[in-house]
Amino acid sequence: MTPSPHAHTADFPSNLYKPGAPLQARISEHRSLTDPASGNEVRHITFDIADSKFRYLDGQSLGVLPPGEDAAGRPHKLRLYSIASPSEGDDGAGKTVSICVKRALNPPHPPGVCSNYLCDRAVGDVVKLTGPVGKSFLLPDAPNSHMILIATGTGIAPFRAFLKTRYGRRASETGQTWLFFGVKTRFDYLYGDEIAQYERQPGFHLATAFSREEQNAEGGRMYVQHRLQEHAKSVFELLQQDNASLYMCGLRGMEPAITEGLRLAAASQGIDYEAFMKRLTQENRWHVEVY
Ligand code: FAD
Ligand code: A2P
Repeated sequence: MTPSPHAHTADFPSNLYKPGAPLQARISEHRSLTDPASGNEVRHITFDIADSKFRYLDGQSLGVLPPGEDAAGRPHKLRLYSIASPSEGDDGAGKTVSICVKRALNPPHPPGVCSNYLCDRAVGDVVKLTGPVGKSFLLPDAPNSHMILIATGTGIAPFRAFLKTRYGRRASETGQTWLFFGVKTRFDYLYGDEIAQYERQPGFHLATAFSREEQNAEGGRMYVQHRLQEHAKSVFELLQQDNASLYMCGLRGMEPAITEGLRLAAASQGIDYEAFMKRLTQENRWHVEVY
């Protein structure tokens, strides 16, 4: 059988560290990605994995074991985080792995266990990690593949890895990239400085949606799905090509609305959404990671 042009490597690392014997990883970087003027706090956290067997591919996730116990006296369960660094790490030498963590607060309820634990750590602290996990959200192997990336909030994490690879290690490739990225305000624009650099790259297209600063055509909040409508022609023309993949990452609650936005965008181009997405799924070109 001819290999699919959008196959992903079969040889991916998986669960090199398990909850029973996690990696004790030291934090080497811990910085805010949000401006103090934002109502949210999201932090970029890098772990040193130099003296470990931890390896990963772009698009995988890792597990964090927060210390302590839940109300029933059981150890806190593991939480997953998308890896935000490319497989060669932020250091370029494969000796680090990074994540991007939003401090989960929902007053008057107790603060989220793991995200607050992580956001309250500092450089030098040691955290228990597991993984990596995930084989369904990997970067396409094929050179020159086109990618349409749709992210809200911390959903940008895996795409930060993809973009670093595409415009770094795989910079000779000519595939096009569309990034649809939704955040509340400019103060929440995660990795905005890095994204600005890609704007100079040929074939990179950016569509931001600042929901609390911009309005859609109906006067409501501007979301990524509204930007998808605006660029429906370009997006679906690209997706007609065999070597184009569509990725979506972010909070689970947004999936139905974004999916509906894609359906409307397809319809505006005279495309039967159900049949088209079925084909993309069968061809391993439609990837969703929501949480
Ligand atoms: P929890 O302790 O699990 O609490 C969750 C929320 O409930 C908090 O807001 C808390 O305040 C609230 N709460 C507590 N008690 C109550 C109550 N009684 N009633 C109502 N609400 C209550 N997260 C990221 O930040 N970045 C990522 O890149 C990322 N990637 C992910 C990738 C995958 C594949 C998956 C599955 C998840 C990912 N997550 C990511 C989410 C992450 O795993 C955690 O779910 C998240 O950090 C919240 O965990 P927590 O322990 O802080 O909150
Ligand atoms: P908003 O909160 O203004 O409604 P967060 O900052 O909570 O992680 O969210 C990231 C972005 O996703 C925010 O701009 C948020 O907008 C937006 N968002 C919220 N609900 C939806 C939705 N149904 N569809 C698309 N984007 C959404």
